[in-house]
Amino acid sequence: MIRWILLWGTVFGLSGVALVAVTNKAVIYSSSDAFCGTACHSMTRPLAGYHQGPHFSNPAGVRASCGQCHIPYDSSHATATQYVKLLVFKADRGARDVWFEYRKSIATREEWDQRREQLRTEFDSYLVKNNYITCRGCHSLEAFGGPRSRMKVLIHQDMLKANTFDCFQCHQEIGHVYEQPVAKVGGWYTAEQASSGEKLYQAQCANCHGEKLEGGGGPSLKGATWLQMYGGAKLLTVWGEITGPMAQYAGATYTTQQSLDIVSYLLQQNGLPAGSQPLANTRELSDLLPAK
Ligand code: HEC
Ligand code: HEC
Ligand code: HEC
Ligand code: HEC
Repeated sequence: MIRWILLWGTVFGLSGVALVAVTNKAVIYSSSDAFCGTACHSMTRPLAGYHQGPHFSNPAGVRASCGQCHIPYDSSHATATQYVKLLVFKADRGARDVWFEYRKSIATREEWDQRREQLRTEFDSYLVKNNYITCRGCHSLEAFGGPRSRMKVLIHQDMLKANTFDCFQCHQEIGHVYEQPVAKVGGWYTAEQASSGEKLYQAQCANCHGEKLEGGGGPSLKGATWLQMYGGAKLLTVWGEITGPMAQYAGATYTTQQSLDIVSYLLQQNGLPAGSQPLANTRELSDLLPAK
């Protein structure tokens, strides 16, 4: 009797392990780039956009796969309940994707142009609703090191405190880059904006950086030093420095508008001409500055 129990116990035990292993293999394979990008979907264009984006190749040499961004818990270690949720999510998505593959494919240029905006919006709102769960599975916003890390920690700290995240408010073209950004030579701000920025600058920054931005206690913010710091960088990098560490140095807290005004003044002083529209929110800061 005991022998039978042991025998069947072992058989059930082993097949249970095998079943879990097979399920998990299927879960992993159906989130892989090979599967999502080529095997089953008509994903040529999203795949090409992904190849041009920062998550396919980057200075760290760490690649994020389709599933790690698009499927909850693939970028973090799921608990048992989360794993069940993951299976449900995948079953639901999988069924819909198969239906779309045959009935509403996005393989041709026209189909893609027609559906892209809707697909993008759907995924954007999924992330917003779920507090950017997949992004935060990889990115711990308190763990920055290296150049400008103080700024990066400061800039994300309010989000961490409030536990609400909207990465796209400041970071665009994160998963897929369809058009490589080109540096503009100005036109980001209005002249009025630069003059309100000048007032703030003279009152709160000039004592360290000089009335004419020539430097003093802090570095010069003009000409060669400016180019060295920000040539080819995103406007976002300049803004982050001002609204983060420099506001702290100045003993101030800026509204987004005030810090954008100061950015405008610095752009103007570095020969990047004004345009007709004001720099109004952080979404506009993904543009690149000219490298020389
Ligand atoms: C780093 C995270 C990330 C990775 C990796 C990633 N995506 Fe995306 N994907 C996004 C984001 C974010 C959006 C929403 C578009 C946006 O706001 O830029 C998106 C949008 C999409 C869309 C909707 C159309 C569009 O581009 O707006 C499809 C389809 C898509 N992804 C498929 C894939 C496939 C297939 C892969 C792997 C080959 C993949 N994604 C890899 C983050 C990612
Ligand atoms: C699998 C892990 C992983 C996931 C998931 C992931 N990232 Fe990343 N992300 C990385 C790595 C690795 C880098 C490159 C870091 C480097 O080069 O130092 C990176 C780079 C970035 C950068 C800097 C690159 C740039 O061009 O500005 C931003 C911003 C970013 N990720 C935001 C996001 C957002 C938003 C999401 C969710 C849609 C996301 N990440 C999902 C791993 C991930
Ligand atoms: C209020 C604006 C803002 C929001 C919202 C925001 N970030 Fe950032 N983030 C910044 C700034 C500014 C930098 C510094 C940019 C630079 O140095 O070029 C930065 C840098 C980063 C970097 C490092 C990039 C690099 O090249 O070193 C990563 C990764 C990143 N953010 C991820 C995220 C993620 C993930 C979210 C959402 C959970 C998020 N950020 C939300 C403003 C923001
Ligand atoms: C108490 C002196 C002080 C004040 C006030 C101050 N800064 Fe700075 N600033 C510095 C120093 C020192 C650095 C060099 C980097 C560092 O220490 O973080 C710097 C760096 C910078 C940088 C370049 C960042 C880099 O990494 O090279 C910019 C841009 C900048 N400051 C702008 C401003 C603006 C705009 C204000 C006013 C809102 C301001 N600063 C207020 C001292 C100051």
